[in-house]
Amino acid sequence: MNRKISKLFSLEGKVACITGASNGLGQEVASTLVENGARVIGIARNKNLLESWSQKTGCNAAYITSDLTDRNNIKKITTQISEFFGPPDILINAAGVNTREHADDVTFNNWDKTIELNLAAPFFIAQALVPNMKRKGWGRIVNFASLQSRRAFPSGLSYGASKGGVEQMTRAMAEAWSSKGITVNAIAPGFFPTNLTAAVFNNPKLSKKNAEQTCIGRNGKLEDLSGPILFLCSKASNYVTGQMLFVDGGFTVK
Ligand SMILES: NC(=O)c1ccc[n+]([C@@H]2O[C@H](COP(=O)([O-])OP(=O)(O)OC[C@H]3O[C@@H](n4cnc5c(N)ncnc54)[C@H](OP(=O)(O)O)[C@@H]3O)[C@@H](O)[C@H]2O)c1
Repeated sequence: MNRKISKLFSLEGKVACITGASNGLGQEVASTLVENGARVIGIARNKNLLESWSQKTGCNAAYITSDLTDRNNIKKITTQISEFFGPPDILINAAGVNTREHADDVTFNNWDKTIELNLAAPFFIAQALVPNMKRKGWGRIVNFASLQSRRAFPSGLSYGASKGGVEQMTRAMAEAWSSKGITVNAIAPGFFPTNLTAAVFNNPKLSKKNAEQTCIGRNGKLEDLSGPILFLCSKASNYVTGQMLFVDGGFTVK
């Protein structure tokens, strides 16, 4: 790769914290960041999956197990996070849940869990990590939004509400912190095969329909996120903030 370009996207010397690193898109992104020079702390509940990811990834990967639907845990982990490699320069909020209930069947419990994990945790973790980013005069926050930030899908009531919130929260976070050198953006993935979307990919007709809705003509592959995430986490995106980048093969333009 051209030397200037590789420097622009390098994460050498940066510390990143990623929620949802035990699986799916969060783990893919966590590995991409380590491969490109960052030291990474992954957060999720499943200790075995985090342990095997960190062993496979090497000494630049560490993890914390925590249930992020519990606000007391959020307070606890925000001090723990900095104990591994120092305070993070980058925060990626990838942990998420989709309870897939029809609007008629949404329960208080699932509503609360969805809003806590998808919307409240990203904000309160960011709020706790921002003071150190301000001191450094540099920071990157990337939230995970969704097609459902803009579109209504069947059985997506609480998920859609949380992801619509993520899009607007991203703009509000950018307004609050960008003047201190901290950019805040969101990635809105199309359909990628993970546990979260198993219900969709286990239905060949639906999966084909989603692929056909894209301009490119296929659903996402995990590695399709590497370029966009490196862009948003590196110097390459210095003047980009408050934006939502659809990584959806053109699903939303048709
Ligand atoms: N896959 C897609 O097509 C797609 C499309 C649009 C948006 N997204 C978004 O992308 C993000 C990643 O989704 P994914 O597809 O990778 O989902 P996934 O494979 O189901 O992974 C979800 C991650 O969140 C963690 N998590 C779930 N509940 C948690 C809790 N209570 N506390 C802490 N961590 C928790 C899970 O780890 P543990 O189970 O170990 O806790 C896991 O690491 C989500 O925000 C999702 O909404 C995905």
